[in-house]
Amino acid sequence: MTRVLVTGAAGFIGSHVAECLIARGDEVVGLDNFDAFYPRAVKEANLAELRRSPNFRLVEGDIRDRDLVTGLLTSGMAIVHLAARAGVRPSLEDPALYASVNIEGTAVLLEAARRLGARRFVFGSSSSVYGDTAPVPFSEEWPALLPISPYAATKRAGELLCTTFTQLYGQRVMALRFFTVYGPRQRPDLAIHKFTRLIREGRPIPFYGDGSSERDYTYIDDIVGGVAAALDWTAAPEPAVEIVNLGESRTTSLSSLVTLIARAVGREARLEHLPAQPGDVRRTCADVRKAVRLLGYRPGTTIEEGIPRFVRWFEESHGRDH
Ligand SMILES: NC(=O)c1ccc[n+]([C@@H]2O[C@H](COP(=O)([O-])OP(=O)(O)OC[C@H]3O[C@@H](n4cnc5c(N)ncnc54)[C@H](O)[C@@H]3O)[C@@H](O)[C@H]2O)c1
Repeated sequence: MTRVLVTGAAGFIGSHVAECLIARGDEVVGLDNFDAFYPRAVKEANLAELRRSPNFRLVEGDIRDRDLVTGLLTSGMAIVHLAARAGVRPSLEDPALYASVNIEGTAVLLEAARRLGARRFVFGSSSSVYGDTAPVPFSEEWPALLPISPYAATKRAGELLCTTFTQLYGQRVMALRFFTVYGPRQRPDLAIHKFTRLIREGRPIPFYGDGSSERDYTYIDDIVGGVAAALDWTAAPEPAVEIVNLGESRTTSLSSLVTLIARAVGREARLEHLPAQPGDVRRTCADVRKAVRLLGYRPGTTIEEGIPRFVRWFEESHGRDH
């Protein structure tokens, strides 16, 4: 049984990852401060299943609290670091907050981990680090030096801190670049969740640009499988740091996404046309060959399968009629 600290455990990805680790027999300490980015009630619902397990404990607190973090870690413990201020567009409003949580928070965790002899570290990074100039599909070999949002810059900085801690102290770290993740419990600010809600309510959806922007949407089960495999990869004794893409290697245009959601909801989508947003990249698409090689990663859910599953979850958790 591995003892794992999962930061951001009350969030979308963190709660799924914690459930997966508990199911396979690990012991999980979750750390989350119920950040106000979206309502606490949503995060409490994410935790409902986990709270029933004797192998799960949730500690409410901030990843930047050095004493708290130091008190939670023990030698040999593994860390899955998913807590962050997420969201590209809001990071343009408050870049200093994003830097504080995402860079300082990551540094606090890395430092506490190495002091206490916790060598195994998985970091939740983002496809946004590739910016708008990387060749498609995005390969980890691209230097990713031109992120176009403060959020993306903080994630790239987090990766660099991970690299530094391996060189200095022999930590074993994997940074995973998630490509737009969706599925049950998806953050309410993200497009698929927001569009589903608005289409069901008969309200117009904000439609940025001409609809041709493209995303590589990754189903939550595929991400969770990748995170669990990355955690296992950190168990080897050799110091190492690797950056690995987790996506589906398929792109979907914004227009096609809206069509798929409207079809699954069974209502027509009304569009409110708005200009393309600064900070948003035009296209993301993962080259996942490295994930296949290092992790045996096998993404298995197409967007055509995943959207109806998301809509079903939405209806079950929000009620069919509103
Ligand atoms: N969802 C995606 O599509 C996506 C894509 C790329 C990268 N990521 C990254 O994956 C991770 C998880 O994302 P998510 O979509 O589940 O987001 P989320 O907002 O649902 O989860 C993040 C959790 O971290 C917590 N948190 C925030 N600040 C904290 C702090 N200072 N101390 C302790 N806890 C704090 C929040 O309360 C929240 O529960 C993040 O690091 C995010 O940047 C997500």
